[in-house]
Amino acid sequence: MKQVLKTLKIKSLNNGVSTGVESWAGGGKVLSSYSPVDGQLIGKVRQANREDYDKVIEKSNAAFKVWRTVPAPKRGEIVRQMGDALRANKDALGRLVSYEMGKSLQEGWGEVQEMIDICDFAVGLSRQLYGLTMHSERPQHRMYEQWHPLGIVGIISAFNFPVAVWSWNSMLAWVCGDVCVWKPSEKTPLTAIACQNIIQEVLRKNDIPEGVSCLIVGDRKVGEWLSNDTNVSLVSATGSTRMGKTVGQAVAARFGKSLLELGGNNAIIVTQNADLEVVIPAVVFGAVGTAGQRCTTTRRLFLHESMYEEVKNRLVKIYAQLRIGDPLDVNNHVGPLIDVDAVNNYKTAIANIQNEGGKVLYGNEVLEGTGYESGCYVKPTIVEVENQSPTVCHETFAPILYIKKFSTLDEAIELQNAVPQGLSSSIFTLNMREAEQFLSYAGSDCGIANVNIGTSGAEIGGAFGGEKETGGGRESGSDAWRNYMRRQTNTINYSTQLPLAQGIKFDL
Ligand code: UN1
Repeated sequence: MKQVLKTLKIKSLNNGVSTGVESWAGGGKVLSSYSPVDGQLIGKVRQANREDYDKVIEKSNAAFKVWRTVPAPKRGEIVRQMGDALRANKDALGRLVSYEMGKSLQEGWGEVQEMIDICDFAVGLSRQLYGLTMHSERPQHRMYEQWHPLGIVGIISAFNFPVAVWSWNSMLAWVCGDVCVWKPSEKTPLTAIACQNIIQEVLRKNDIPEGVSCLIVGDRKVGEWLSNDTNVSLVSATGSTRMGKTVGQAVAARFGKSLLELGGNNAIIVTQNADLEVVIPAVVFGAVGTAGQRCTTTRRLFLHESMYEEVKNRLVKIYAQLRIGDPLDVNNHVGPLIDVDAVNNYKTAIANIQNEGGKVLYGNEVLEGTGYESGCYVKPTIVEVENQSPTVCHETFAPILYIKKFSTLDEAIELQNAVPQGLSSSIFTLNMREAEQFLSYAGSDCGIANVNIGTSGAEIGGAFGGEKETGGGRESGSDAWRNYMRRQTNTINYSTQLPLAQGIKFDL
């Protein structure tokens, strides 16, 4: 890990504030980052205070005035270089993600790959920020729309995807001509500093003004400052529904824009027509991948009564064979939870579901002993439930899978939609009618609905996000770029008259 930290220019005490080419130790408290892998201190960061924040916003505003004048394809060229810099650092950054956050090394590398993918996507997009043209109802008039940069985009990111989700936002925002201020999770400040170091080098080489990429490590107050600040045109926030509610309300109160990607409570429906050889790995990866800490994690499994027992037994058998341990060892399937608080949430959720009538089929154990000294390793857990009690309806960021039997697809779809969240969902079936029903307006109510693919692991090319308490935002692919720009409708009269729309007469 020493070499990794050296490659990524992480020191034992790091500057928590950075405005692109300049960085400084903030005036706030010192934050220590401990690894959930082994409980060791990785590094410390001097966090920002209000004064630092104000300075960052000032630099960002100045940078925006310059950055917006750079033609979009040229901005794309800078993002292309960022993608190359990430490629060069993929191994080291993936390892740091794995060590600071606790996800498996494969997933750590996958997360950096996701960043590289969005860079490539953004480069192409930089030549495709299209608006429509319309036919005017008036003679010799022309109508069209164009998209302009917004200004400062504040990005609040979560610990579970400490770098990829920031890049979904920042890479698109940059080709759109915006500047970014990033508040990373306090649980993963070092991966954020590593990214900022990588990006800074690209900016420096290209003589790009300070403030195009800013980083502010700090506590929730930084999130509040961003949300309440009219300088910040868009606040894109990823995290809990509770956090999103606070951010969304504050931003709305000042008529700012927000993009919310909040909690999920994702279900897989397995019908009697499913191919179980595809179902089993999809469910296990969906439920235990990232130790159940993805917003797309499979939390609920609805099994048709005809093969309920079979799938249940196969899952319990596979869960017993999962290798839990150091995520940097590629032989392990499951790493630690992010911290001891998360372990307590796991324990509480299982205790609660048992009180609500759930039956634990496997798991419910915090691991102790050699290799588990950090106290953050838990056994992925399967709970059989008869109804969707409050604990099932709540998103617990831990590997707990609730399984339930159903008889008809109508019933299964109703169950799947009967939670407050609406992020991701899947059906496993080889029957075309069942698949189409699930995808229809009367099917899944989620932002993501898959067939014969699990709930997690979306590609960057699609719009990512969900409905209801998930917040309604869409990030990464498709036309999510529009969130980062403002639309302007232009009507141009090249006639010698002034005809009014709707045929209104106004004779002078
Ligand atoms: C998240 O958990 O916040 O679809 C993002 C997935 C990943 C992104 C998850 N590509 O699981």
